[in-house]
Formats: sequence, C-alpha cells, structure tokens
Amino acid sequence: MNFLIMGLPGSGKGTQAEKICAKYNLGHLSTGDMFRTVMKSDSELSKELASFINKGMLVPDELTIRMLTEELKNSKYSTGFLLDGFPRTIVQAQALDKMLEEENKKLNAVISLDLDEDIIIERLVNRLVCSKCGHTFHKIFVKPKKDNICDICNGDLIQRDDDKLEQIIKRMSVAKEQTLPVVDHYEVIGNVKTIHMTKEDSTGDVFCKIEKELYDFD
Ligand code: AP5
Ligand code: MG
Repeated sequence: MNFLIMGLPGSGKGTQAEKICAKYNLGHLSTGDMFRTVMKSDSELSKELASFINKGMLVPDELTIRMLTEELKNSKYSTGFLLDGFPRTIVQAQALDKMLEEENKKLNAVISLDLDEDIIIERLVNRLVCSKCGHTFHKIFVKPKKDNICDICNGDLIQRDDDKLEQIIKRMSVAKEQTLPVVDHYEVIGNVKTIHMTKEDSTGDVFCKIEKELYDFD
C-alpha cells in the first residue's frame, strides 16, 4: 500500500504518520525529516537546504524530487510507503505520478488533515522534537515523561529553527499558495480522505478518524 499524508505545517502529519506506518507496515518518508538529517552534517548541501528551510521557504523542486527519488530506493519502502510533506507543489505531484506510473505502482489513499490555522500556530510554537530520533512532543498537549528528554530514545528535545513565529507565518502562506492546489490535484483522481479535526481531538482521536477512513485497507 502507498499513502500520502498532507496538511498545513503543524497539522499533525508526523504524529499520525508514525501510527499509520506502524499499523500498515509502511516506510515513513518525511521530506522535512530527510532534509533535517542532511542539515546535521557540515556540507554544501546542508547549507543550501538551510538557506531555504530556515526562512520558511520550500526547497526547489528539482533538488527535492532528486533526493526523494534516491531515498525511495531504500528497501525500507519495499512493503509500501507513506509520504509526509511530499508532494508540496504541482510540479512535485506530476513527478510522483510519473514515477509511480513507470514502476506500475499506485497511490491507494491521500490523507488530508484539516485543522484551523490558529490552533496549528499554538501547536507549532510549543512543539519539541527529539534531536536524535525526531519524535515529536508538545510542551502542553503531548508532554514527554521527563522534561526535555525523549520518551523513545532519551535524546535531548529541542525546538526546530523554523518554529519561530515569523517562519511559521511564512510556511503557512507558502503552503496555502503552493500545497493546497496539490490536494485539488488528487481530488480529481478521487482518493482523498479528508480528516476534519477540532482542538479537542487528541492524537488518539485523530488516529481513530483516520482508521475509519482507511477501513478498506484493513
Ligand atoms: P516539514 O518537516 O514537512 O514541516 P511542515 O510541513 O511544516 O510540517 P511540520 O513537520 O511542521 O508539522 P506536522 O504536520 O508534521 O505536525 P506534527 O505532527 O509535528 O518541512 C519542513 C521544511 O522542509 C518546509 O518548510 C520546507 O522548507 C522543506 N520541505 C519539506 N518538504 C518539502 C517539499 N516536498 N518540497 C520543498 N520543500 C520541502 O505536530 C505539530 C505539533 O502538534 C507537535 O508539537 C505535536 O505534538 C502536536 N500535536 C499533534 N497532534 C496533536 C493533537 N491531536 N492534539 C494536540 N497536539 C497535537
Ligand atoms: Mg512533520
């Protein structure tokens, strides 16, 4: 099975992706995580990526598509994949369509997370991520058991460089302009599962809603 998970920055893609991949035995490919892994190194590519990401801008399509194509060759995606944060532009969606067609594969479902922007901003400014394994927490809603220590791997929890208000606002505007049309692209194909969320929905509640929408694949 191959799924996409889409939604505005901070809508909960990474949080839900972990749960979906565990249930359906899929490889999780977050382009944001892929870029942040490279950005830990001291290289020209790392500097190039940071020059876009830390300003809340998208990494250019050509570079993103090249890195994603290379990453997808990894055997961890052989049982299927969940793409998180890709495609983010129509050019990327067309590249993915072509790649899937060439490999005789298809997208079984596109999960589209829908949540009000003001709730999302509150989530992002209080997000903590593990510097080692990338697991996500929230200072108030999804607290780690020990302050600033990851429950999964004991790594240090940090704030992402692009989780400052100015960059968050930029990321929102880029997503609305460039990524919302990608959802419309898949609406035409007819495999979009929209998950409407409220402020009160816990991460477990959201996952229940997703499971209900994906019942065809159980
Ligand atoms: P990326 O890492 O993909 O960032 P994003 O899309 O902005 O999304 P986030 O990871 O910020 O949020 P999320 O939806 O995963 O939410 P999360 O689960 O963490 O991309 C970063 C950058 O890389 C981009 O800006 C761009 O520059 C570049 N990039 C990436 N892909 C690209 C592409 N394809 N093309 C070009 N450039 C690309 O949840 C958020 C918070 O809410 C957490 O604190 C979490 O604990 C909390 N939370 C989650 N669910 C709940 C709940 N139900 N209740 C309460 N709190 C909750
Ligand atoms: Mg994420």
